Parts: sequence; C-alpha cells; structure tokens
Amino acid sequence: MAKKISEKITWVGKKDWELKKFHGDEFTTINGSSYNSYLIRDKKTVLIDTAWLPYDKEFVANLEDEIKLEKIDAVIQLHGEVDHSGALVELMNKLPKDTPIYCTANGVKSLKGQYHKDWNFNIVKTGDKLNLGETTLTFIEAPMLHWPDTMFAYLDKENALFSTDGFGQHLASEFMYADEVDQNILFNEALKYYANILAPFSMMVTRKINEIWGMNLKIDMICPSHGLIWRKDLNKIIEKYLKWANNYKENQITIIYDTMWNDTRKMAEAIARGIKKKDSSVEIKILNTAKNDKTDVLTEVFKSKMILVGSPTVNNGYLYSIAGILEMIKGMKLKNKKAVAFGSYGWSGEAVKLIGEFLRSAGFEILNDGIRCLWTPDKDMERELEKYGEELV
Ligand code: FEO
Repeated sequence: MAKKISEKITWVGKKDWELKKFHGDEFTTINGSSYNSYLIRDKKTVLIDTAWLPYDKEFVANLEDEIKLEKIDAVIQLHGEVDHSGALVELMNKLPKDTPIYCTANGVKSLKGQYHKDWNFNIVKTGDKLNLGETTLTFIEAPMLHWPDTMFAYLDKENALFSTDGFGQHLASEFMYADEVDQNILFNEALKYYANILAPFSMMVTRKINEIWGMNLKIDMICPSHGLIWRKDLNKIIEKYLKWANNYKENQITIIYDTMWNDTRKMAEAIARGIKKKDSSVEIKILNTAKNDKTDVLTEVFKSKMILVGSPTVNNGYLYSIAGILEMIKGMKLKNKKAVAFGSYGWSGEAVKLIGEFLRSAGFEILNDGIRCLWTPDKDMERELEKYGEELV
C-alpha cells in the first residue's frame, strides 16, 4: 500500500516478507526485504525506480490505485538491476510510448541489455537537473555503488536523497522509517548489506559521501531502494558507512573451516583455546562453512582483524565449501586483515599451503606458513595448536 512520506513524496514500493535469498542463492535475507519506489508529485510527476520482476503486475496495479498512470511524466531509473527495474516493461506498456526514462549512460546499456526495448532514454550526468515545478531533482552519478550504472538523486525543498542500494538493508517492515524498528536488527542488516554488497567498493563509498557532503545539500531524509528510510540522526548511518569503508575491523578473530572426520574441527577449537588464553578480550567466532550461512560468514570475516581458514586435504586440494567461501572472500577486496591457514591430513597434505597462497592473493597479510596436523590431533598436538593460537595474538 502506498505511503506518503512527505508533502510531495509517496512510497509506492513492495515489501517482500517472503524473500529469503537474493542475487540468486548468494545473499540470505532472513528478514525479507523491500523494493522501494518513490512517486514525486509536483507540477510534474515522476516515479523513481520500480520493483522486482515477480511483482511487476502487483506493483503497477498498486500504482494505478494511487495515481492515474497517464499523469506520470517521467520515470527515473537510478540503477538498472532487476530488483528495481523489473516492473518497467509492465509499466511502460501502460504509459505513453514516449515517456522519458532518465538514467545514466550505463543505465541505458543495462536496461536495453535486459529488456531489449527502445524506450525514450534521457541520459543524465552528475549535476544535471530536472525541474518538477516547485522542486528540482539533481542527479549524482555514483558508479560502482554498486553497479557502473548507479546514480543518486536529490530533491530540494523536500531535502531527500534517493540513494538506491547505498544505505539499504534487506529488512521487510510495515514501518517506513529506520528509527521505528529494532535498532540492533536494523544496523545488523545494514552492516550485512554493506559487507556482502558494498565492501569491494569502499574507496568509492568514502569518495561519494565526501563529494555529496561537499555539495552542501540540506538532507533530511535518505531514501534507499531497500529497507527503511533514514530520517533521524542521519549522521549515525553515515558515520557507520565511513567506518565500514575505512578498512573496518573489530577486536574479532574468525576461524572458518570445513571438516570430513572432525580433525580439522578439533584443530579449530584448540587454536581458539590458545587465542582466548592469551587474549581474553578478543571475540572469537568458529564457523563451519558447510553448516553456516555464507552471508553471515562473510559478515563475520568483514568484522574481523584476522581470519583462520582450515580444511583437510582432499584429492590434493581443499573442501568444496572452503573453495566457495574463499572465492567470495576474495571478491570482497578486503584490506588490512591478517590470515593463516590450518588443516589436518593423512597423506599428501597440500591444503594448508594452497589456502595460504589463495589468501595472500586475496590481499590478506599471511602471518606464517600455517599449521598442519597429521591424522587426528592427540594431546601433544592439541597443546601445540593452543600454543600456535597464543602466538597468533
Ligand atoms: Fe538492489 Fe543493485 O539492486
């Protein structure tokens, strides 16, 4: 149902309580999500973004309940990904053929690439303005936040920044505003979103925030394309973003491993005991990558100052879940984090060396050659593993 959020802005998006996986099977969204779309009614009426494809008909039907579609003068597509553009075909079929779509040059590529339509694209760049009557929209390109086609838009007088995926959270709520929901869940989802989607682009995040703040815009509301709208204490989320973008780490060490017959698990636990013995203040997370959700694992890696990655050697390599998570960790392009590898073996024992090499190539500072255990750790080996843990800190 549509919801007025200011004199001229009405939210017309879709709350998706059912969503449990996003980006295919990549991102687990235990709290659902929303596809936020905003209708701005001034002398001109424009629509910012639509909704994910499975909801295209529902989205357009709800929009028709809110406004006669012929009154929409233009569509602003801030970012072409299907979760925001999926209802565009359904919508454009009902709008006059020449209704302009404002987007970046890369936006045209992405929309044409997905929908193969010759719509009336109007390419905009940073600083371009669209006068709506009493208010004006200013476009701000934001490439790689998180796609090359991304842009933000700022509506003066209403002082609203439309930030597409930036500042978003996968969080379905019947509330509209960030200050109305459980703050732990809100910031945890915002962090998860940052770690899993925006982390590789941290340099651009810092630059874009500084650029926008340098424009001296009066911003009373940040309206992202997922989750809740920020309207109070905006500095709180902005400061979090600046912190997360600046080689973020907490006093946390995360031990991730997979195991065939529990030997590598025993190693993980013995090393953890050693770490704890030496530094009782450090938070330790011990996560079996075959049993834990990968979105959560990546979030814990993002928070860590050091990670330990363990696998037994199998077929001269390491286990499937470790291979998968290593690939995802590499994609995060994290900096300023330490790492070591560990694992049990019975015969050839290459896994530890291979994991260490992978982590080095992924940008981690490798502290040593790692530690291996031949077969099952006995008491002596457990003591050695504990000592290894102590030395890490
Ligand atoms: Fe939420 Fe990148 O789309």
